[in-house]
Amino acid sequence: MSAIPPPNRKPDLPPTKLFINNEWVNAVSGKTFETHNPTNGEVIAHMAEADAADVDIAVAAAREAFELGSEWRTMDASRRGLLLHRLADLIERDRAYLASLETLDNGKPYGDAYAADLALTINTYRYFSGWAGKKHGQTIPIDGDHFAYTRLEPVGVCGQIIPWNFPLAMQAWKLAPALAMGNTIVMKTAEQTPLTANHIAALVKEAGFPPGVVNILSGYGPTAGGAIATHDGVDKVAFTGSTEIGQLIHTMATGNLKRVTLELGGKSPNVVFGDCDFDYAVEKSHFALFFNQGQCCCAGSRLYVEESIYDRFVEASVERAKKRKVGDPFELGVEQGPQVSQEQVDKITELCKSGTKEGAKLALGGAQLGDEGYFFQPTVFADVKDDMRIANEEIFGPVMQIMKFKDIDEVIARGNKNMYGLAASVFTTNLEKAIKVAHELRAGTVYVNAYDVFDPAAPFGGFKMSGCGRELGEFGLEQYTEKKTVIIKTQQKNS
Ligand code: NAI
Ligand code: MG
Repeated sequence: MSAIPPPNRKPDLPPTKLFINNEWVNAVSGKTFETHNPTNGEVIAHMAEADAADVDIAVAAAREAFELGSEWRTMDASRRGLLLHRLADLIERDRAYLASLETLDNGKPYGDAYAADLALTINTYRYFSGWAGKKHGQTIPIDGDHFAYTRLEPVGVCGQIIPWNFPLAMQAWKLAPALAMGNTIVMKTAEQTPLTANHIAALVKEAGFPPGVVNILSGYGPTAGGAIATHDGVDKVAFTGSTEIGQLIHTMATGNLKRVTLELGGKSPNVVFGDCDFDYAVEKSHFALFFNQGQCCCAGSRLYVEESIYDRFVEASVERAKKRKVGDPFELGVEQGPQVSQEQVDKITELCKSGTKEGAKLALGGAQLGDEGYFFQPTVFADVKDDMRIANEEIFGPVMQIMKFKDIDEVIARGNKNMYGLAASVFTTNLEKAIKVAHELRAGTVYVNAYDVFDPAAPFGGFKMSGCGRELGEFGLEQYTEKKTVIIKTQQKNS
């Protein structure tokens, strides 16, 4: 990849209102809320605060855009693909600006935002643009004198609720497949990170999508989010966030039996065998946990290390974590910025205290860092036991848990003994071990000698309480598709 251009530390702010029908409007209540810069806690902007009344207006706009005969419903599929392609080009044009805005609002290192978040975002819109005219039905040889075929149709108005850890990518994972199949959208952004989504909304309009196809609302979960999940005018709800709220969304969606896809939390086992490439496994395990300030649903946060290399591995992991460069996220080379909010820092602090109390060995860190912003020390716990809270709950911070294991069947059983099933990984040079672990761990994605490899063509999502359905890939596209069977009588034998 070419060199990363310098960041813009004071990017112009995008519109701060609600995006409905391709226009920027205030909330009906006139209310606003603050979004903060996690590096110093300062207020960046006052955002329009959507509530049920605004959701009603946005759903009506999305419904109208979805009416039979509308510009969107009569648009050729190939043209839908072209609009998505154009959107990807516009995001690429504004890549450094969007990465800067993300760093300001979320706190993630600019280098990561530019190289990782923006690459995945652009690639996701491009990937699904290619599907727009290519996802089609079948002809089916049913019995009798009949011609049977399937048509793939959009689900309708899709409610989408996204989190703050990867705001641009999470928006792309939801908008792109929905638009490729011809759905319309009411999306609620995360209250901690509403800014970049609004610039994308402006680009949606610039790309030429008709009014009402994409509606973007900033606001809080229980109000605006709840109104989307319960709304009878919404045909499907897609949510990424905590398992607790995912369960709530599932029940809220039953009124009109909305289609539901959920991408929830995780506590992913990372199994390191004694025969691994040691230095490589230490570095990848560090990355698997600490990337994005540890704020990844798929973080490799249950690190199981084989007895034969356990002591050496703990020592090397602590040394690596000590070297982690924490600081100003706009500075290139900084690996770790602040957590997204003080609320998250408080949650992480409380879980670290429980770890010490329950007898884990705190080998590094364990506390908030500095007195400005929401920074947290890179933290490593060793001698963690499976029944401790830090081995079971999603910490969502830069806190590593290392556990010892003796043999492969034991570690697979322990790896599966958790309510989550989002991701897993194995580090070994033995192919048979790698395949056994990959096949026997119950998780939506398993990495072998790798971690956090994302591609829009590869489905992502969870087993068990990590969610239902998948995003990305052809399987992700199907979650935005209704299948219609058409059966036509071809001969009238009996008449
Ligand atoms: P959350 O699940 O409350 O928030 C995610 C999204 O859901 C946000 O847009 C929020 O406004 C919305 N929401 C919240 N309550 C809602 C409700 N009653 N109805 C509809 N929408 C609602 O997550 P939060 O509070 O930001 O973080 C708490 C924990 O959740 C984190 O510490 C982490 O463990 C986990 N989390 C997991 C994520 C993932 O990628 N799987 C992303 C964000 C958080
Ligand atoms: Mg913010």
